[in-house]
Amino acid sequence: MKDFCPYITNDGSVGLYSKEFNDIYHSTFGAYAEACEKFVLPADIDFYMQNFSEINVLDICYGIGYNSKSFLNFFFEKFFKKNVNVNRHNDTIYSDNISSRKIYIKAVDTDKELIFLSPFFTCNAKHKPENQNLPTEKVEHLCTGKIEKQYDYDNFINYLLIEKLAENFPDFLNSDFLELYLREKDKSLFFDNAGVKYYRFLQKKRMSGASVRSLNALLHNIYYLNISSRYKKAQKALKMDVFNIDYYIEDARKTLMEDNKIYQLIFLDAFTPEKCPCLWSVDFFKLLHKHLDENGRILTYSNSARIRNAFLAAGFYVGKIYNERAGNFTGTIAVKNKSFIKYPLSDYDLRLMKTRAGIFYRDENLNTLNEAIIARNKFEVENSPLMSSSKFIKEYRKEHQNV
Ligand SMILES: C[S@@+](CC[C@H](N)C(=O)[O-])C[C@H]1O[C@@H](n2cnc3c(N)ncnc32)[C@H](O)[C@@H]1O
Repeated sequence: MKDFCPYITNDGSVGLYSKEFNDIYHSTFGAYAEACEKFVLPADIDFYMQNFSEINVLDICYGIGYNSKSFLNFFFEKFFKKNVNVNRHNDTIYSDNISSRKIYIKAVDTDKELIFLSPFFTCNAKHKPENQNLPTEKVEHLCTGKIEKQYDYDNFINYLLIEKLAENFPDFLNSDFLELYLREKDKSLFFDNAGVKYYRFLQKKRMSGASVRSLNALLHNIYYLNISSRYKKAQKALKMDVFNIDYYIEDARKTLMEDNKIYQLIFLDAFTPEKCPCLWSVDFFKLLHKHLDENGRILTYSNSARIRNAFLAAGFYVGKIYNERAGNFTGTIAVKNKSFIKYPLSDYDLRLMKTRAGIFYRDENLNTLNEAIIARNKFEVENSPLMSSSKFIKEYRKEHQNV
């Protein structure tokens, strides 16, 4: 079992802390809210729904899938609520071209266990457990006592993911990974019970010899748990056959080198550049460039000068992501179509990128170990004739005090 600690973040979704990396996977403010605000809202999905018959999404570092979940939630909300009419015979007719939209997600992560657990963690906890056993002081400091939900999450998405995982992995329904977690009492607090029950239902269905009567009894229990509408919605979405998700459990560099698909949206949610530089190098970005649609967008949470400079050097136009709720910049967008840049880099950002802080990671063969990438970058920074970032910041402040 993985050495990570789950906890309820401030929006009622589960965040993870990794002991191995001594790092959090998700924002304490809200794991699900972070996915919505940093990835899905700035992606302008409406534009793609209007202009593309198939939207291809690449979710780099899927983890427990918040970015894909948020994207699916956004898509299906439109699909079911705004574009569905019911005719007098009570049959559903899809009134406009949204019904012919297809979405495809390629989800990549090195961690199979996280991918398998992804549909079971709750996004909708109503309360925080009395004793959350928070993993680090950093998290304790930022975790408030109560839940403030910012964005809706429809649990039926969990059912879809369970179905797709069962399709993708022959061992998903046979494995005991879930039981191992549920056996640990404190961990079960973080699971979506209906998802767990649905998983068990599918397991039974798969088991040869399961009688129809026992399946019906199980389904009946599920109905009693008040999830029938979710179940029906998931079945309808699956029947409509409008989306697919494929999982790749490997280094994202390998996945992309062997891929020839073009993506309209790329979510890049790797650990920080200092921890996982192989997914932030100029060479990886050049590879992303080959896979991005002329009207595509790459979204990421990093505001670093080094990362922005690498995107520029790889041939993208680069801008900032503005979070209207928080009133600040919370990431970077890289595109081929300049008109998609709503918040351009400022004079300060551009000048900072020309200091040592802008010296980017290199990984020409796309197979260098993280430690070696860091060591080379450190050497280049230490031996660079460029101004240090601290000197630049001092000078910039002085310049602006005098204005
Ligand atoms: C910040 S977490 C991603 C969080 C995720 N988007 C979510 O919603 O839970 C970073 C993820 O990167 C994965 N990872 C680390 N190195 C990788 C690599 N070279 N290729 C693909 N995934 C990698 C880790 O397993 C981890 O799940």
